[in-house]
Amino acid sequence: MALHNVRLEVMQLLEKKIDMFVDKFLVPVEKTWQPTDLLPNSQQETFMDEVTELRELAKELPYDFWVVLVGDTITEEALPTYESWLMEVEGVDQQNANGWSKWIRHWTGEENRHGDALNKYLYLSGRVDMKEVERTTQYLLNDGIDIGTQKDPYKNFVYTSFQELATNISHNRVAKLAKEHSNKPLSRMCMMIAGDEMRHYTAYSEFVKEIFALDPSEMMLAFSYMMKHKIVMPAHFLRETGHKIGVAFEEFSNTAQRLGVYTAQDYVDILRRLLKRWEIDSITGLTDEAERARDFVMALPARLERIGQRMVIPEESYKFKWVNPAVVKG
Ligand SMILES: [Fe+2]
Ligand SMILES: [Fe+2]
Repeated sequence: MALHNVRLEVMQLLEKKIDMFVDKFLVPVEKTWQPTDLLPNSQQETFMDEVTELRELAKELPYDFWVVLVGDTITEEALPTYESWLMEVEGVDQQNANGWSKWIRHWTGEENRHGDALNKYLYLSGRVDMKEVERTTQYLLNDGIDIGTQKDPYKNFVYTSFQELATNISHNRVAKLAKEHSNKPLSRMCMMIAGDEMRHYTAYSEFVKEIFALDPSEMMLAFSYMMKHKIVMPAHFLRETGHKIGVAFEEFSNTAQRLGVYTAQDYVDILRRLLKRWEIDSITGLTDEAERARDFVMALPARLERIGQRMVIPEESYKFKWVNPAVVKG
């Protein structure tokens, strides 16, 4: 039987559990937080005072912090790209409204609150050039993504497992930094977002775990393929007005590394965590090729750590159009 048919069968098997997955890993609309819960309430007379307070607290946050917050916001705002990408994955069928398309829609519904909350915060803070931020978001939507997963559900679920954990880590670190700068409301917002990302990570890594039980060799090959080609960030096509793709993303990740929000070591730690979560060392019944793929992923963390130690992060901040250094703390 052709390879892709086995994948489709596996997806159809897992699809039977979609309602259980939605119940277990996602939160119903009536019970979940909304951006409004974390922002000044515009229906209240106190709105202006709350905005003034938000803006006062925002003054304490330094340049690099804003760059990271803007980059994170834009990454979240490119959600239409991710949703349309995932809808194309084999086994997801939007036309017939199958279980997997329901999962994707519910996941999107949760994710959409992230960009919404962060965008409103940035707008109210008065610390960033909102038009430049909006332009970059539009560029990023225009430019799309190429995450190297094709339509393969196995590769895509490795990618989403990795990414959800990466965003959990980075939003949590931003929350911690905001708190250190006495900005509790922003810290809370980032923590709420990080909490969603953790649930999403648990879900996607559960899908992969179940696939490992059903189709171990192909799942192993997909995992090693993704790790060999490196997990690229969803905003890797980030660009500013008048600039080419490449510069903004590199400088955004340099800034995140400098602040310790998301580092090369985090990449290695995520990989180690996935190896453990999927119990890669004890999977049985692998083909010779899949055994070699296992050897590759098992040896990868140590290899990446050696490379990471040699990496030098520029100390100087890059001047983004998003943030005017003159209006934020040095
Ligand atoms: Fe998110
Ligand atoms: Fe996410």
